[in-house]
Amino acid sequence: MRLHKDAKAELIRSLPLFSDCTPPEVAEVAAIADEIDLGAGRTLATQNADGQEFVVIIEGHAEVRKGEDVINELDAGDFFGEIALLSGEPRTASVIATTPVHALVIEGHAFRRLLEDAPDIREKVERAVAERN
Ligand code: CMP
Repeated sequence: MRLHKDAKAELIRSLPLFSDCTPPEVAEVAAIADEIDLGAGRTLATQNADGQEFVVIIEGHAEVRKGEDVINELDAGDFFGEIALLSGEPRTASVIATTPVHALVIEGHAFRRLLEDAPDIREKVERAVAERN
């Protein structure tokens, strides 16, 4: 059990989004994030649908699509799903796995609480959104 917890904390800290987290912040992420595996071709977010989760890719590759256009590609360390959760609006794009994807998933209200508790994470999320094309 202990080993498993340490491994999850280490995995979380290896992701750029969480690399500057304090130990209590890492513990909060570990408590609210689930590890999931998804097959290639799976739709991970659907444009115009309600959004319930924030996802950080640990391994694998996904495409961001608006309509039929691929507008970006996501790899290990990238994240998505924050816009619908923070704005309350529907998903702005679809995200589709192009390889098997291993990811951390955080449910909406836990994600919003995490951003209140951890300003460094909030700042990284906001910066990444601002720098997107
Ligand atoms: P959300 O709108 O909740 O669901 C779709 C997600 O795709 C969106 O949040 C962002 O996380 C992500 N996304 C939207 N546009 C881009 C983009 N241009 N580049 C990378 N990711 C994007």
